Amino acid sequence: MKRVYMDCGSSTSVDKEIVEMMVPYFGTYYGNASSIHSFGREAYQAIEESRNKVASTLCANADEIIFTSGGTESDNLAIKGVAFLNKNKRGSKGPHIITSTLEHPAVLETCRYLEKQGFDVKYLPVDKYGVVKLEELEQAISKDTFLITIMYANNEIGTIEPIEEIGKIAKDHDIVFHTDAVQAIGKHPIDVDRSNIDLLSISSHKIYGPKGVGALFIRNGVKIQQTMHGGGHEKGLRSSTYNTPGIVGLGKACELAQTRMEKDTRYLKNLRDKLIKNVLKIEESYLNGHPEKRLVNNAHFRFTGIEGESLLLKLDEKGIAAATGSACSSMKLKASHVLTAIGLSPVEAHGSIRLTLGRESTEDEVSYASEVLQEIVDQLRSISPLWNR
Ligand SMILES: Cc1ncc(COP(=O)(O)O)c(C=O)c1O
Repeated sequence: MKRVYMDCGSSTSVDKEIVEMMVPYFGTYYGNASSIHSFGREAYQAIEESRNKVASTLCANADEIIFTSGGTESDNLAIKGVAFLNKNKRGSKGPHIITSTLEHPAVLETCRYLEKQGFDVKYLPVDKYGVVKLEELEQAISKDTFLITIMYANNEIGTIEPIEEIGKIAKDHDIVFHTDAVQAIGKHPIDVDRSNIDLLSISSHKIYGPKGVGALFIRNGVKIQQTMHGGGHEKGLRSSTYNTPGIVGLGKACELAQTRMEKDTRYLKNLRDKLIKNVLKIEESYLNGHPEKRLVNNAHFRFTGIEGESLLLKLDEKGIAAATGSACSSMKLKASHVLTAIGLSPVEAHGSIRLTLGRESTEDEVSYASEVLQEIVDQLRSISPLWNR
């Protein structure tokens, strides 16, 4: 059976060049990068080279990069790290954090945890495309606000947020600005200075690197508190023996993302637009998210009278991998918080699916997926109580 992977927003394959670069760090250069002997120094050198590559992708300095186990840990470290330093700031309702209603659970759940610890969190509403409303952000700021955390691009509907404007607002009010750029890196040029970003999270497995490794950019001068205690690696902010092969993989993934960005963007945008054009020919089908300000590889649709999970299973039977909700919550049958945040009803939210393309996607796959979708939508509607034409 034909197998078509359209779930690159969940994870990508690992690029062969990246695998090749990682392999020697398992069997040849396996020393602990913190050791003084030559085995350790070899690993340490590779880690520092990766640090340079990651920094260069973000237009940052190498000493502003901390390696972590992925996007979730980077988000936790950034948000809790700043929050714990500000816990004694006493506002009327407690020290204040601003975030948005459509963040990834790595941010939302961290904020909910902090609420239980006495922090006051404002969850900003978004418009029908998923764009944070800047006037509401300005209005939400108080003298107790010490952190704004708003994602660069949404993992479900692909909407890109007005990061430069948010960064400017944060800077004007002297508030630390964190952004989760896990989905944006490699698909959108990032410049932490131009956008006044203080903290930024990335993950390797969305950009053809290995799983279980990521990084946090921490602007020089921005203070955060450690959340994990141990041997004092990464300036004491992230103890634990270095995952040398993983870090080497992340560095190479960032390098490739940067050198291939223009070519990838052109290729993916063209494919994505073809997919959107084809799928929107299906009766009562709609695009979720912003029509233009969206990730180059993201197409997110809703179909009247269809249940997204059934659609997903039928697509899988035809060899097509798609997603509903975010990968971490797709086992839950709750309507996606992102789709309800943009104003969809639970029924509309449940009738939605995400197709995310990658470097290996082809025109042929786009045509196949479009045809199969039409076929399955017709089939499901013929037995759907929600579709009574
Ligand atoms: C926007 C966003 N943030 C954070 C994460 C979590 O990253 P990781 O899987 O590396 O922990 C993801 C993964 O889906 C994501 O899409």
